[in-house]
Amino acid sequence: MNEALLQNISVRPLAAGEPVPYELLLDADPSMEAIAKYLPFSEVFIALYAGKVVACFVLYPVDADTLEIKNIAVEESCQGKGIGKLLLREATEIAIKKGMQNIIIGTANSSVGQLYLYQKEGFEISDIRYGFFLQNYPEPFFENGIQCKHMLVLSKKLS
Ligand code: COA
Repeated sequence: MNEALLQNISVRPLAAGEPVPYELLLDADPSMEAIAKYLPFSEVFIALYAGKVVACFVLYPVDADTLEIKNIAVEESCQGKGIGKLLLREATEIAIKKGMQNIIIGTANSSVGQLYLYQKEGFEISDIRYGFFLQNYPEPFFENGIQCKHMLVLSKKLS
């Protein structure tokens, strides 16, 4: 069932004039202000199933060697079917084609499932931005009963 779903997912860059999937972006990053800062310098990719946008990710060039996945989100009803894993692999392929040396992704200390998924996909913790969420988000927030305080940066070497 999931295999059939995954085979029918197509991933492509968002075309000029196409609506930005803000609902999905906000699912991964609750700050519209933060999204507005990186979006103009990033490329948005969408995943379609049966003509409908079901997921997206955003790639931001940190420098000549490093691409960052700034945002990745799968529509709630489609989560847990392997689409997130597929998108991480697509993002990695894109970074390789662009000649990048590293691909990185940041997540919160409280994002236990995401940490599991990223490490399983070959990303390793390379940096901790202590207090990132305390400093950049106005309200405290919790996931899995853990306060979201620090950003863990995970990276994967591509060559
Ligand atoms: N909790 C526990 N496990 C999780 C998980 C979570 N939140 N998200 C993914 N996993 C695990 C799956 O169980 C699966 O494990 P397996 O390979 O051992 O079977 C593996 O990771 C792959 O999962 P997959 O189905 O490919 O993930 P997904 O399609 O649900 O996408 C997210 C993962 C995180 C992109 C998706 O859940 C999502 O959009 N979440 C909301 C937005 C978000 O948090 N974005 C990331 C911000 S850092």
